[in-house]
Amino acid sequence: MTKVLVAPSLLASDPMRFGDEVKNVEAAGADWHHVDVMDGHFVPNLTYGLPFIQALKKLASIPLDVHIMVSNPDAVALDYVKAGADRLTFHVEAAIHAHRLAQSIRAAGAKVGLAANPGTPLESVFPLLEDVDSIMLMSVNPGYGGQHYIKQTAGRIKLLADKLKQYGLQNKVLIEVDGGINAETGAQVVAAGARVLVAGTFIFGATDRAVPIGQLHSLLP
Ligand code: DX5
Ligand code: ZN
Repeated sequence: MTKVLVAPSLLASDPMRFGDEVKNVEAAGADWHHVDVMDGHFVPNLTYGLPFIQALKKLASIPLDVHIMVSNPDAVALDYVKAGADRLTFHVEAAIHAHRLAQSIRAAGAKVGLAANPGTPLESVFPLLEDVDSIMLMSVNPGYGGQHYIKQTAGRIKLLADKLKQYGLQNKVLIEVDGGINAETGAQVVAAGARVLVAGTFIFGATDRAVPIGQLHSLLP
């Protein structure tokens, strides 16, 4: 993959001006909207539900990258696809039948992402590499925006990139990174092989969102 895709995490946007924030990052060059669904159980925080995703889908003109941090992805993932997720990423730690779930998300017409927490052995995603469109390595413990990047993530990205090459999947499966991404940490993860950068605080904290989005895009000229 020869391009860096930037997915601003709407979690860091101003919730009282949500629609304007959506349009603002689209105009600033965002590739996807990253939408963090949290259930107050898999992670302590609680965020968006299905009606919210449906409303966002009507407004958005770029793909919705929906990241479900829920304890029961097998039961609810397809509802989020029906609500408008173009890409649906679920956690390997939470899924009971990850392989079956990946196949049903694909059959429902969405791209499949598999996420792994920082403390989860990378080997847990290897059996599923043929069945997903992206692997999301968490570079913070999920649940909140504004946390610090965990520096061991770059090493995990390299191992994953090597494994994808070994399987001949390097042009099929995107490596996505989520948490604590800014220009500096973004450079580290892109050098290691990441091609999708999720960033909340770094993008929404800027007055002109085109600046951080442009900085992340330019990491791979
Ligand atoms: C964390 C979320 C992230 C978060 C990233 O659980 O999955 O998407 O919003 O926010 P920043 O970029 O502020 O770490
Ligand atoms: Zn996320």
